[in-house]
Amino acid sequence: MKAITQTCLLSAALLTVSVSARATEKPGTLKETFKDRFLVGTAVNRGMVTGGAGFRRSPEQTAKDVALVKEHFNQITAENDMKWQLVHPRDGKDGYDFGPADAFVNFGLSNQMYVVGHTLVWHSQTPNWVFAGTNPPPTNATGNVAANTNTPATNQFGRGRFGGGFGGGFGRYSGPRASRDELLQRMREHIHTVVGRYKGKVKSWDVVNEAIADGTGTNVLRNSLWLEIIGPDFIAKAFQYAHEADLNAILRYNDYGLENPAKRKKLITLIKSLQAQKVPVHAIGSQAHLNVSISFETMDQTLTEIATLGLPIHITELDVNSAAGGQRGFGADIANNAATTQGGLVSDADKKLTDAYAGIFRAFLQHRDSVKVVTFWGANDANSWRANGKPLLFDGNSQPKPAFDAVIAEAKKASLAK
Ligand code: XIL
Repeated sequence: MKAITQTCLLSAALLTVSVSARATEKPGTLKETFKDRFLVGTAVNRGMVTGGAGFRRSPEQTAKDVALVKEHFNQITAENDMKWQLVHPRDGKDGYDFGPADAFVNFGLSNQMYVVGHTLVWHSQTPNWVFAGTNPPPTNATGNVAANTNTPATNQFGRGRFGGGFGGGFGRYSGPRASRDELLQRMREHIHTVVGRYKGKVKSWDVVNEAIADGTGTNVLRNSLWLEIIGPDFIAKAFQYAHEADLNAILRYNDYGLENPAKRKKLITLIKSLQAQKVPVHAIGSQAHLNVSISFETMDQTLTEIATLGLPIHITELDVNSAAGGQRGFGADIANNAATTQGGLVSDADKKLTDAYAGIFRAFLQHRDSVKVVTFWGANDANSWRANGKPLLFDGNSQPKPAFDAVIAEAKKASLAK
């Protein structure tokens, strides 16, 4: 009896020691752990950089989110505030609203972070005035305004995260249009003004976002107002203007769904053609809005093929949806993403998320020559655009999830962490 009591006491003591050792032995931060391989970034929202309340976050919660951002990340991207709709909502001399974008850049610089600008030319979150003019829109055989065939391509900015702007009833602009020259002139002025303002401060820009068509059809480019009004060289022009505005900025082409072989093939076709024309594209941005069915093999194959372009790869918007409704395919267009985020979590969601993140990071680590930046699309589950899918490494209270441990464990296996 005495012996048993002693053993119990001893193991209790040992337990206390190991528990307290564990509590004091903090796992490394993301930025420290991966510092020899790539930057680890996050999208930040307006509340975080202005010190106010965030989207559905109280000032106290936002302060906690900010602490998490500072602790773990050495790179930031503005989740919305540099999009045309927000930074340049009106035509004319007083058309720009630079306040939030300035706050974002200052936040990054004062915290020694690598600042990324997102995004200059996109079919979404772009105000109607940009495309408006006096040319009647084209009509199809039945006399209706030609339909936008492959995307809800909104130009609205919704009230909430998914509100309004994602299909949900708002079509794209269908009124009289600008001419090619007018639209090119507006694009040039916008890019020169925005890139010029942050020259030397914003180190990298998503110059063109999501220009590639989904699906297995033969169209490489998505049907958008940019394409219809300017023609396919809108992409080359955008890169040329951005390069003029800041010769040292790293200019990215950014898109989603590159884990899908058909879409990846189109990316390679597009970028090779830009390279043949000597267009200044400096890096490939792969959004990586994934779901828990993603495998190491798929990520490995994706990175191997993109790397053949000979450019650095930046993972620009990483998240891994574990909502049941989000399991249909690789990060769909934003309209579909919003829709497919609905529904409960997949069964055993935490475990699946953990395994998915382990495979994803194993692939990033193996592709060390290519992957230079890994940006999460949000710091924790509460401020994710796909919050229902609990897609990030930290929960809504900024506590690390098992997926966080798995990512650190991958670094250890690659002998990055002690
Ligand atoms: C999303 C933001 O996270 C949301 O807050 C906003 O309402 C819509 O846009 N691809 C992109 C990002 O390039 O800009 C999108 O961000 C997500 C998909």
